Amino acid sequence: MRKIWLTRHGESEYNERALLGGDSNISPAGQIYARLLPDVIVDRIPLTLEGATMPVSVWTSTLRRTIQTAELLPFPKLRWKALDEIQAGIFDGWTYEEIADKHPEEYAARKRDKLRYRYPSGESYMDVIQRLEPVIIEIERERECVVVVAHQAILRALYGYFMKIPLSDVPRLEIPLHTLIELVPTPDGRMAEERIPFN
Ligand code: F6P
Repeated sequence: MRKIWLTRHGESEYNERALLGGDSNISPAGQIYARLLPDVIVDRIPLTLEGATMPVSVWTSTLRRTIQTAELLPFPKLRWKALDEIQAGIFDGWTYEEIADKHPEEYAARKRDKLRYRYPSGESYMDVIQRLEPVIIEIERERECVVVVAHQAILRALYGYFMKIPLSDVPRLEIPLHTLIELVPTPDGRMAEERIPFN
């Protein structure tokens, strides 16, 4: 049975400073994650009925932090703009505290309805879920194993879809850094999940 692996990029310089969005590089801790990832995935590649290892492809966003995280994975790679992180619009590069401090009404509106709240000049989770539709169609059509190296909001949306999570719960799903999520389709149409933390 083929596998789908989901992972956030390794910790980025923006993560270190708790800043939203941006296109920063991965931090030293993120680089360690990027170095450890290939062996863990290679060890988990399933075999075909003929006993060969299944082909694997790696999908990243177009942002540096996912490309750098995937760099050492020894498989063909594809970059998807649709996998880029939720756009925080005018708040790109801000912290949550700055938003709460300078735009408490926006902060409160997002807290009230995180699924539908759209950042000014940016996106909502509903926007993200919609733009991920072609990616989901391709993942489902794919016969090979796929490693998706993406971002917090993006992986909440993908994970929520595959695990049939109610939409209202998607924006608060736990998708930690430095944790590989392995999904395996089961014959009853569900996904078996394993989480592999790298600590
Ligand atoms: O903090 C990392 C990050 O990927 C930000 O770039 C992004 O805005 C945020 O997570 C999305 O998570 P949330 O929807 O919980 O703010």
